[in-house]
Amino acid sequence: MSDRPVPRRPRLRAALTLLAASITAGGVALVVAPSADAATTLGASAAATGRYFGTAVAANKLSDSTYVGILNREFNSVTAENEMKIDATEPQQNQFSFANADRIVNHAIAQGMKVRGHTLAWHSQQPGWMQSMEGTALRSAMLNHVTRVATYYRGKIDSWDVVNEAYADSGGGRRDSNLQRTGNDWIEAAFRAARAADPGAKLCYNDYNIDNWTWAKTQGVYTMVRDFKARGVPIDCVGLQSHFNSGSPYPSNYRTTLESFAALGVDVQITELDIEGSGQSQATTYANVVRDCLAVARCNGITVWGIRDTDSWRASGTPLLFDGSGNKKAAYTATLDALNAGGTTNPTTPPPVSPTVSPTPPTSTTPPPSGAGCTASFTVNAWTGGFTATVKVAAGAAGVNGWAATLTLPSGSSVTNAWNAQATGSTGAVRFANVSYNGRIAAGASTEFGFQGTGTPPTGTPACAAS
Ligand code: G3I
Repeated sequence: MSDRPVPRRPRLRAALTLLAASITAGGVALVVAPSADAATTLGASAAATGRYFGTAVAANKLSDSTYVGILNREFNSVTAENEMKIDATEPQQNQFSFANADRIVNHAIAQGMKVRGHTLAWHSQQPGWMQSMEGTALRSAMLNHVTRVATYYRGKIDSWDVVNEAYADSGGGRRDSNLQRTGNDWIEAAFRAARAADPGAKLCYNDYNIDNWTWAKTQGVYTMVRDFKARGVPIDCVGLQSHFNSGSPYPSNYRTTLESFAALGVDVQITELDIEGSGQSQATTYANVVRDCLAVARCNGITVWGIRDTDSWRASGTPLLFDGSGNKKAAYTATLDALNAGGTTNPTTPPPVSPTVSPTPPTSTTPPPSGAGCTASFTVNAWTGGFTATVKVAAGAAGVNGWAATLTLPSGSSVTNAWNAQATGSTGAVRFANVSYNGRIAAGASTEFGFQGTGTPPTGTPACAAS
């Protein structure tokens, strides 16, 4: 019903009446054109102020035509509801499984939608092998997971929930977990690893019950983000899950919370919105949330946690915008109207760093011209007993068709795995050669590879040889 063009007729009639009135009165021959039609979908309306409007998606529902019809029509961002979690992407240690996540990512990319990655490090939904890990082995496994998954999706993710739900429900401190017991710096280590793996993605800390500005948990997360910004830990955004119900209601100071986080110099995103209830009261709360986001320039997107009420993890609370048959609820109309009312424009924040990767595989075996060469440099993310290293290989003035960088590890250290390079040896002088897709580096350009090791990291300048 609401998709039919019928409601436009009165507006046209009104414009004609206005035109006729101005002619009849013989007044100024200037008639203000009717304003452009308001957007008729959530995504298009949010885009008008530089924002996205997204939804959580389950891969096994992509064969449901009603579901996909609404998804493609209304939303311009998606979050995998479960498919990018640790248990889904690394079910056995170092054996990665991306098929279900890829279905969602590929659908989104084909539809021109953004993708929010959810989530790289979390105490929950860990695979069995990780649940039983502690200490250095777990820290190393967690960083390996962050690096491998973020590298796999490099260039496809708008924002990553790097760390999810690390704060305790009360008291304002960290939640106890096997990850927390690896050391208080586990969160910043995860962010550094994510930045190294995908320099173009925004990196978010995501949590629930951080909506009410007066709550200790909100203040705990705020203090961490302020500290990270002060110390240069790479964080770009805070995700407020915003699951609202009678036990955790929408707070009247929600806008203050959004403004306060944004004032730290991060984006804020509403990442898992659902509001239990029905009718006008639910609709009003949805509208309030949207108005609060639109009032804060750095609130750059809203994601609802599912499409139809029946898709929700809390289906009995009917918390979403569409009913079980896919019909628009009052909450939908209130949300769209609030988006169409406009607000601050989100400044288009450029990605933190532009990745410089070699775009094409080598097509020629011609040796590089004379004078060609490469240089290598690296950064490390170290903890007691282990490290990851990100190595940048830069081509000289002539470009290269292949390369190998050699780093010398201290005695007692060894390389456990590498990505975007082929390692020869694991102790002492270890040689890392290009793989098929990153051997060719244009003049003045660079590429990156990484590796993980036990012990202490190498120092000094790596040797680089062009081939
Ligand atoms: O797919 C299996 C199915 O084969 C099996 O028969 C069934 C039996 O229990 O389980 C199904 O898996 C369930 C999965 O959802 C898919 O429906 C899991 O048991 C269940 O634990 C899982 O719940 C998810 C929950 O995270 C787990 O923590 C919800 O779908 C998902 O909406 C929810 O999302 C979280 C965010 O990641 C973080 N913030 C809170 C939010 C809501 O809890």
